[in-house]
This record gives sequence, structure tokens and C-alpha cells, in this order.
Amino acid sequence: MPGSSSILRFANLKFAVFKPLLAALALLFVFAQPAAAQISFKPTAEAVQEDKLLNALKEGDKITGRVSIPDGSAANLIQPAGRDWRDFQRSKLPWIGGISILGMLAVLAIFLMVRGRIRVHQGFSGKTMLRFASFERFTHWLTASCFIILALSGLNVSFGRTLILPLFGPDAFATMSAWAKLAHNYLAFPFMLGLAIMFLIWIKDNIPGKLDWEWLKQGGGLLSDDKHPPAKRFNAGQKGIFWIVIIGGVLMSVSGWFLLFPYLPGNVTALQFWTVIHAVIAMLFIAAMLAHIYIGSIGMEGAFDAMGTGEVDLNWAKEHHAIWVKEQQAKGEAPSDSTARAVPAE
Ligand code: HEM
Repeated sequence: MPGSSSILRFANLKFAVFKPLLAALALLFVFAQPAAAQISFKPTAEAVQEDKLLNALKEGDKITGRVSIPDGSAANLIQPAGRDWRDFQRSKLPWIGGISILGMLAVLAIFLMVRGRIRVHQGFSGKTMLRFASFERFTHWLTASCFIILALSGLNVSFGRTLILPLFGPDAFATMSAWAKLAHNYLAFPFMLGLAIMFLIWIKDNIPGKLDWEWLKQGGGLLSDDKHPPAKRFNAGQKGIFWIVIIGGVLMSVSGWFLLFPYLPGNVTALQFWTVIHAVIAMLFIAAMLAHIYIGSIGMEGAFDAMGTGEVDLNWAKEHHAIWVKEQQAKGEAPSDSTARAVPAE
């Protein structure tokens, strides 16, 4: 059939034209194999080089690009010091927090088991005197309640992902953490207010003096019920707590302020410095407050009333703050000794 032979001829002609093209494609395919292998290898090779580059950079150096917007810091692509910061958050902070907080809980538990509760040696007198006025108690509980929520929500930021996420599951943990973060941000302000008022109302009774040295030398009389060194309104231990609260509180407030307004520190390295200060002081502060909470509640009989009702038993006051009681009696603001009667401790 003439028609079919002409089609065949046309097909042969076409094949002859495309033959070199096909050969070229085949060659390309053969050479393309090693090239494809190179591409799959490259990212690893680049990562290795990037690592070397990062290691070669001295601390504080940055890998920067160029930007045309006013904020020059947006040009920073990589900040190698950030790796040290991440290492601190992941591996050093859990140790600092664990040793100080769990260590303090262990010390307090051992102290309670060995020493027991510090009792009112003479028993309750049945007569009370004012220790803290209502404004002082309001300031204390404002600061204390803010501190407790700040501490719990802060610990959630540091360790929640490891300790709480597996217990709550992701949904509940995310909801809880969002609320905790809000509380942490906003309660910082009433905490700072309470701190400033505490400083103003209690500074006059917390100036260290000779008597404090004596108190410390006698170990605060913590080991015996019947012999407590004489003290004014605050003994050396309480003065210590006052200054821990003021100095720790100021450090927490300044560092926290920089974290609330992250553009204030100026650059990311300074911001990282303040997060480290905030976290380390927080762990030590929480540990110190655990000791304070212990001695102000289960650790010492009769102590909680001072911040509860504001009134303390006269015998408690005489045992722990003998000089202060005399001063108050001279002013007519405490019952005289003769009116005090002993009732057995519960
Ligand atoms: C549930 C927690 C707390 C309890 C049961 C508690 C209990 C007490 C008690 C009973 C006192 C009076 C001691 C005395 O008679 O002199 C006191 C004083 C004081 N508290 Fe607290 N407190 C707690 C939390 C806090 C927190 C979180 C802070 C600060 C962040 C704080 C700061 C102070 C300061 C500065 C004083 C005066 C100095 C001193 O007595 O040590 N308290 N607290």
C-alpha cells in the first residue's frame, strides 16, 4: 500500500532526526546520576561547614546581612552566643533550680523531723498584743500572693514542658500556660508595688545592729525551746528575710522589666543576660521563701497569728522578741507581765 510505505518512510526520517537528540538525553541521564547524588549529600556538607563557621566565631560576634529598614538588628541572621544561652536553659538551669528548691525542701523536712516544731516554752499566756497592723498585713499578703503565683507560673515557663506537659497533655498544658503567662506578666506590677511599700514600712526595724550579731552567734536559739536570744521587733533571721526580699525583689523586678519590654536592653545578648539573671535569682528567691513560709507556719508555734489576725500571744512575743515587748509595754501598747497567765500549749 503506497499510503502505508510513505508513513514508514516518514517515521524513519523522524527517527534519524531525533537519534542524536535521544543519545544526548541518554548521556545526560547517565551524567545526571552522580550530580543527583551530590545534591542529596550537599546539605549535610553545608551544615558541617556552618558548624565550623559558628565555632570559629568569637562570642558576641554575629552573622549579619543587610536590611533597608530602620531596625538594624533585623540584619542579624545568627548569634552564636545564643547556643550558650540555650545550653544554660536546657542543662544548667534545671540543676540550679533542682538543687536550690528540692534541696531546701529536703533540709526543711529533715529539720522538722529532727528538731520538731519550735514551741512556746512557757505555754500560751492567753493575753495578746498587736504585732502587725492591718495595712502591714495587707501589704504582706498582697506581695506574698503575687509572689506565689509568679513563682508557680515562672517555674512552669522553665520546667513545665518537662514536668507538666506529660501529665496534662498538650491541650490542657497550652491553655494553662497561656493563663499562667498572662498572670505572670500582670501580677509583676502589684508585686513591685507591695515590695516598695514593704521597704518603706519595715526598713526602720531592719537596720542590722550589734544585737543581730549576738543572735546569729547563738544560732537564733533555733535549737532549744527555752533559750532565745533577745531581739527587737525583728531578729537577725527576719532581717535576713527582709533584705533577701528587697534585694531579690529588685533584681527580679529590673530583670523582669527588661523581659516585659524586650527592646529596652538594646540587643539580644543583653536580653539573654537578663533572662539568666531572672531565672537564677528566681530559683534562689523561691528556695529562701520556702524557708520563710516554713518558719512562719508549721515550723514555729504561734508565729502565723502575727500575719493572720495580727495579734500574737504575749509569751510568744517575750520568748522571741523580748526587747520589743518591753518597748511596747513602756508605750502602753502591750499587756504587762503580771496580767499574763500560762495556759498549756495545744
Ligand atoms: C504562705 C506564705 C507565707 C507565710 C505563711 C508567711 C508568714 C509570715 C509571718 C507569720 C510573718 C511574721 C513573722 C513575725 O512575726 O515577725 C511574715 C513576715 C514577713 N514576710 Fe511572710 N509569709 C509568706 C510568704 C511571704 C512571701 C512570698 C514574701 C515575699 C516575697 C514574704 C515576705 C515577708 C517579709 C519581708 C516579712 C517581714 C520580715 C520577717 O518577719 O521575716 N512572705 N511572713
